[in-house]
Amino acid sequence: MDQYFKNYEKLDINHLMLSEKTRVLMAYKNAIFNMKEEFQGKVVMDVGAGSGILSIFCAHVGAKKVYAVEASMLAKTIEQVLIKNNLQDTIEVIHSKVEDIHPDSLEKIDIIVSEWMGFYLVHEGILDSVLFARDNFLREDGLLFPSEAKLYASPCELSSMYKFRINACEVPLPMYLSMRCIGKEYKKIQSMEPEVLLLNQDHLLASGILLAWLDLNYISVEEVNLLGGEKYVSICEKDGNYQGICIWFAVKFPDGSELSTAPRDEATHWKQTVIVLPEDKEATKYLPIAFNVELKRDASNSKRYNIELNCNHDFLSSTFNELMRMFW
Ligand SMILES: C[S@@+](CC[C@H](N)C(=O)[O-])C[C@H]1O[C@@H](n2cnc3c(N)ncnc32)[C@H](O)[C@@H]1O
Repeated sequence: MDQYFKNYEKLDINHLMLSEKTRVLMAYKNAIFNMKEEFQGKVVMDVGAGSGILSIFCAHVGAKKVYAVEASMLAKTIEQVLIKNNLQDTIEVIHSKVEDIHPDSLEKIDIIVSEWMGFYLVHEGILDSVLFARDNFLREDGLLFPSEAKLYASPCELSSMYKFRINACEVPLPMYLSMRCIGKEYKKIQSMEPEVLLLNQDHLLASGILLAWLDLNYISVEEVNLLGGEKYVSICEKDGNYQGICIWFAVKFPDGSELSTAPRDEATHWKQTVIVLPEDKEATKYLPIAFNVELKRDASNSKRYNIELNCNHDFLSSTFNELMRMFW
């Protein structure tokens, strides 16, 4: 756990996050400024304040008090930033895990802001901490920024990346020796870990299927332990090669605006998460592709999820039937 917070102390990670205009300005700043009346004279908690940027936005729109809660040593950096920007009277840094703050030690909070999303939405599990803050500090009709999250998946093709990986599996030996089983096993192993990479809309074979829709005002931590898990059917919208399942997410703010990590939207550091199939499959327009993808929290590390993909191609009268478990 200490190592987890140490990673966030690296300034290059914060530099990357801060310089991402889509995340910082287009999403959070706009959502906060669009609802500035809601913030005026209110008490705000920034869960996982990092560099303090979201706390500063809240102070700028007139929050009476902002608690910038940060567990890592970055809390010390926020204090310096506040002094430089003369915001130390409005923003109070709490150097602690939010779970370690006693519920009676603070007044009720009107608004919680947090940038808690990880790869495939729930990686890192900061959402648990936001839900803890909601249950222990937020007043009954308080607001959450963001307030909703959706997780999507679609069959995709991976073009050059797939060819590269699959070619790398070939064992270059004389023709009379059959070592294909080794290559096959290697491909399977390569498919055991999801890839975080940037796709564009052309890579998707179908529209996104909604795997999970989280209303952050009401959802419980237990409900986040398992996302997806049903049998989904995508209808191909074009011809192509079915080579993987692409996963992305979007979050929505109380002003109705959205931060989306879909392949069609502006690229972000979250990119997309792709489960690469060990064998590709020709896909044609209108072809139904059935799959089951499940994100299950790892019992030994609550910040990680196991992603399980079940592609039952019997549905497509194919011999390919693969169950893949991925630990990440
Ligand atoms: C994704 S970063 C976001 C930083 C900042 N809010 C921003 O938008 O640039 C998440 C931050 O939450 C902090 N964090 C994670 N879990 C926390 C917890 N339980 N209590 C307090 N801080 C936490 C991490 O140390 C990290 O700085």
